[in-house]
Amino acid sequence: MRPCHRATAGDNVHKIWSDPDIAAVVICSETNRHYDLLLAAAKAGKHMFAEKPLGITAKESYAMADAIEKANLLFTTGYFMRTDPMHLFLKDEIAKGNFGKITRARGSNCHGGSLGGWFDQEWRWMADPKIAGVGAFGDLGTHKLDILMWLLGDVDSVTADIKVVTQRYGDCDESGEALIRFKNGVIGTLAAGWVDVDDPVQLLISGTEAHAAIVIVEALRENIRAFTALSLHGARLSRQFEKTMQQLRAFPAECRQLSKNKPLPESGFVFSKPDRGACPRHAAFKIM
Ligand SMILES: NC(=O)c1ccc[n+]([C@@H]2O[C@H](COP(=O)([O-])OP(=O)(O)OC[C@H]3O[C@@H](n4cnc5c(N)ncnc54)[C@H](O)[C@@H]3O)[C@@H](O)[C@H]2O)c1
Repeated sequence: MRPCHRATAGDNVHKIWSDPDIAAVVICSETNRHYDLLLAAAKAGKHMFAEKPLGITAKESYAMADAIEKANLLFTTGYFMRTDPMHLFLKDEIAKGNFGKITRARGSNCHGGSLGGWFDQEWRWMADPKIAGVGAFGDLGTHKLDILMWLLGDVDSVTADIKVVTQRYGDCDESGEALIRFKNGVIGTLAAGWVDVDDPVQLLISGTEAHAAIVIVEALRENIRAFTALSLHGARLSRQFEKTMQQLRAFPAECRQLSKNKPLPESGFVFSKPDRGACPRHAAFKIM
C-alpha cells in the first residue's frame, strides 16, 4: 500500500469543503451530526462514505439521499454485512429461486454491550438516543434489517417489542424483537440488543425447497475459538461455494485453496471465516 503523505489534521471542517484536492470524505461523527456534515459535503461536491444510521429521522435521511442524488455523487453507508460472502451467496440463491417459496426469515444481531458497560465512558453518546438517534434495537437491528430487506424486499407491516432491561443507560432501550411482514408475503423476525450473552443463530431463511442458517460454532481447536458456519439444505442450491469464497478477499490463502472446487453436498456445513476467534489468521473449511 502506498503511504499517504498528504494527510493532515485540521481543526476546521470548512477547509475540507473548499479544498479542490479532496474528492471524497468519510463521515463517521456521532449520528446527530451526520445531517449537517453530509449536506455540507454534498453542497461541496464531495463523494462520501457516511456511517449508519444515516440520519436521526426518516425525513432527515430522505433529505440526505435527495442531496446526494441531485449532486450526482458516489455514496455508500456503513452496511458492511452486504459484503459478507455468506450473505452474497444467499442473495444469489434467493434470486435464482432456489429456496422455492420462502416462508420465514429470522435475523439477529445482538451483543452484551450493556452487560459489559461498553458505553459507560468513551462511547456514552451511543446509549443516548438524542445523539445516537436510536438505542440498542436500532443500533444493531439496522444492520440485520438492511440484510433482510436486501434479501426479501420492502416491508409491508411491522410490530415490535422494544425495552429497557438493566437501566444501565437510563431509558435507552437495550433489547427488542420485531415481527415483520414483507410485501412478498414472507414473515420475518428481527432480534437486536445489547443484553445478550451470545447470539449463535444470526440469520435463517426457510423455504419450501431449501433452508439456510448462519450459525456461530464454538470450536476450541488450535487457537481458533469460533467460526461462522453456513448450514445449508436444498437440492437446488448451487453446488459450488467457490465464487462466494473468492469474494472474501482477506480469507487466508490456505483456506481458499481448501475450498476450491469443493462441491456442496445437498445438506451440510460450510465453515467460513473465524468470527470472534483469538487469531484472525486462521480459519477452516470443512464439509460434513
Ligand atoms: N457500521 C458499523 O457497524 C458502525 C459501528 C460503530 C459505529 N458506527 C457509526 O459510526 C459513527 C461514529 O461512531 P464511532 O464509534 O466512531 O464514534 P466515536 O465517538 O468513536 O467517534 C466519533 C468522532 O467524530 C468526531 N467528530 C464529530 N464531529 C466532527 C466534525 N465536525 N469533524 C471532525 N470530527 C468530528 C468526534 O470528535 C469523535 O472523535 C456513528 O454514526 C455510529 O453509529 C457504525
